[in-house]
Amino acid sequence: MRIAVLKERAEGEHRVALTPETAKKFAALGASVAVEEGAGVRASISDEAYREAGAEVVTGPKAVGGADIVLGVQPPDVMALAGAKPGAWVAATFDPFRNRDLVEAYAKAGFEALSMEFMPRITRAQSMDVLSSQSNLAGYKAVITVANEYGRAFPMMMTAAGTVQAAKVFVMGVGVAGLQAIATAKRLGAQVSATDVRSATREQIQSLGAKPVFVEEVEGIEGEGSGGYATEMSEEYRKAQAELVSSHVAKQDIVITTALIPGRPAPKLITDAQIASMKPGSVIFDLAAAQGGNVEGSRPDETVEIHGVKIVGYSNTAGHLAADASALFARNLYNFLSAFWDEEAGKPVLDEEIGDAVRLTRGGKIVNERLLEN
Ligand code: NAI
Repeated sequence: MRIAVLKERAEGEHRVALTPETAKKFAALGASVAVEEGAGVRASISDEAYREAGAEVVTGPKAVGGADIVLGVQPPDVMALAGAKPGAWVAATFDPFRNRDLVEAYAKAGFEALSMEFMPRITRAQSMDVLSSQSNLAGYKAVITVANEYGRAFPMMMTAAGTVQAAKVFVMGVGVAGLQAIATAKRLGAQVSATDVRSATREQIQSLGAKPVFVEEVEGIEGEGSGGYATEMSEEYRKAQAELVSSHVAKQDIVITTALIPGRPAPKLITDAQIASMKPGSVIFDLAAAQGGNVEGSRPDETVEIHGVKIVGYSNTAGHLAADASALFARNLYNFLSAFWDEEAGKPVLDEEIGDAVRLTRGGKIVNERLLEN
């Protein structure tokens, strides 16, 4: 069983899917591990550290030569997988709804694509969930980034020269990233409020010491679809939410948006008119910038200034914390493969619940239900 990892080729991708820690653990399971030279450099991992962990460091894409399993943060091009075994597994974040062509190319080439974003949201898969591990870091980084862009302080400060007011921070979307954003902004001393369409988040917001801001008057809203994800909301709800948000946003210094709906473009939460209602010098971080954006006018990897308000968003927020993001991502992959390790076979054998959820391609075809019905 040979596991291989290439250097990430996508622009701005500084993470790596294997760390010396996980290389050692895979070796302990009996696998041989190969990693492309320089794969970890941007995540502060040297080739030497991989060697010390028992991995073979190979120059260039031939690192995948003879691989049964290839690990990636983002999936490599099919061409780069030329030396891998026929039918090899490739575990990475495929972003399958947006990368249909790539998934089809994987099918055609006979590889088995395993999409880590499709990990089911069940208790036993929590430690394998890359969306959670990366969103958590992204929520933290969003707050640190806006704090840096903001021309004022976050905490209230009483000084001999007078009082500095605490910044008002509003978090929209209280999933994994939003919860971490609330916690981080609280730690920095901001006055924090938050909203979500899932009513279950109200208590979570309160437990972090922040103020929930919720649409109350629309009947029958739960906002929660399968697997804990949000559903698209009714026209009536969206109107009520827009009104509530408008009056609240106008009083905020910082807004952090994190709202996503799987397989759909990100919902628009902040309009140009709402931006105009904010004070000059306010800052918005759009964590959904790369998925179409929650904020009108936001552009991934640019700081845009509209009506005196700065709007920031990264295409790969967790990638800005490459060392920690890699460590967690690599552990997620190890937890996934090791949980299914069959000692007799000397390789992982997936079960139906998780295998069918994450597997996109097999035997030359797209086999994933979510992809086939989309
Ligand atoms: P996400 O990244 O899909 O979305 C972020 C947040 O935006 C969600 O809370 C969603 O409800 C909210 N949102 C969507 N549309 C909105 C709108 N129009 N206005 C305001 N908010 C909107 O969510 P994430 O972070 O993946 O987590 C969703 C849930 O799944 C959470 O309850 C989380 O705890 C749970 N979860 C469970 C796991 C497990 O059991 N293995 C693993 C990861 C998350």
